[in-house]
Amino acid sequence: MKVLFVCLGNICRSPSAEGVFREISDCVTDSAGTGGWHVGSPPYGPMLEAAARRGHDFSDLRARQFRREDFADFDLIIGMDDANIRDIEALRPSGNKTPVQLFTDFAAETGAQEVPDPYYTRDFDGALDLIESCAKGLHGKLHEIEPR
Ligand code: 4NP
Repeated sequence: MKVLFVCLGNICRSPSAEGVFREISDCVTDSAGTGGWHVGSPPYGPMLEAAARRGHDFSDLRARQFRREDFADFDLIIGMDDANIRDIEALRPSGNKTPVQLFTDFAAETGAQEVPDPYYTRDFDGALDLIESCAKGLHGKLHEIEPR
């Protein structure tokens, strides 16, 4: 299985999601941003620091922009909020059937409808709590998703 995590900037939420999920799964993982402002940059410093305090390290990741070729390259594409989903779907090639889902769909017990952007909320620990729950939920449901 190849799983792609997508957010807006690819410096806070989606690298955190990739970093946490790759610790618990054998999937091939990547992350990307629908925006291109931070291409080539490492994850945001305060995000890395909050993650490091709970034992996660994804400082090796570098931002890239989501592209339409990702639909063919991944089995599952995960967005962090509704705007991400809309921006992803706008690039879907005709006939492509790759599933695109909200990360929070895998953590219904949290009641969350999206992963709020800590770049704006500054709640890096709240984002990580949610991302950890969603990552565990996704790991538990992977068998329901068919690799192509
Ligand atoms: P992310 O957060 O989507 O979780 O990576 C953001 C980081 C930076 C910007 C937007 C969102 N920005 O516009 O610079």
